Amino acid sequence: MKKKLVVLSGAGMSQESGLKTFRDMGGLWEQYDVTEVASPEAWERNPELVMRFYNERRKQLFEAKPNAGHLGIAELEKWFDVEIITQNVDDLHELVGSSNVLHLHGELRKVRSTIDPGLIYIMESWELKLGDTCELGSQLRPHIVWFGEPVPAMQEAIPIVQNTDILVVVGTSLAVYPAAGLVNYIQPETPVFVVDPAQTNIQKKNVTYIQKKAGEGITELITKLEKLK
Ligand code: APR
Repeated sequence: MKKKLVVLSGAGMSQESGLKTFRDMGGLWEQYDVTEVASPEAWERNPELVMRFYNERRKQLFEAKPNAGHLGIAELEKWFDVEIITQNVDDLHELVGSSNVLHLHGELRKVRSTIDPGLIYIMESWELKLGDTCELGSQLRPHIVWFGEPVPAMQEAIPIVQNTDILVVVGTSLAVYPAAGLVNYIQPETPVFVVDPAQTNIQKKNVTYIQKKAGEGITELITKLEKLK
């Protein structure tokens, strides 16, 4: 029986794939006002601006390639029962074959009906436009959790974290709740590994910091995890 390993990943995971983070130098929130592009009020006020923001990111996603960090995490499945809980809306974990990926904040390649949120569609092109409608005739919106909206995937994520034998935190500032609160659901003795070039500080008993970028840090992480498999 393989041990359970949960990876909580954030934007830093995809930074080496050329996708911007949010709160780093040059991050997305330096260029855009989050209340103008990532909230239900923004969508009501100026849907074209919101669509342009996600179209630009989706266009970059169509050109992005997974990096060594994504590959390394996929390889961990040979030793562990891996569950990825990601705040990222890209599909780079899936592209390298990770089997269990739970998106807390939605998925950039998907859009959904504004009349029935259960009607979700995968986009073949990068551009969503006003007038693109669901089968019921209502405007399609990005399948993204905006600020101020509930995070339904938390219900599924919490028990996964509560039952894990190991927690890996990669590329997240842990600045946004409820996602960031997931680290508080691990058992007290659960070992935590943090991969992030920045100085981070997780108030847990058993934390190992790998202060490197994901590409290099995950390789170092794998050598450390071999002893725990
Ligand atoms: N490898 C690993 N970590 C990195 C790298 C890298 N190459 N580059 C940057 N980082 C780290 C930064 O040091 C920072 O800790 O990734 C983290 C990025 O933090 P944020 O930009 O805040 O991204 P994230 O934590 O994913 O944001 C959470 O905020 O805006 C919302 O919905 C959005 O899901 C997002 C949420």
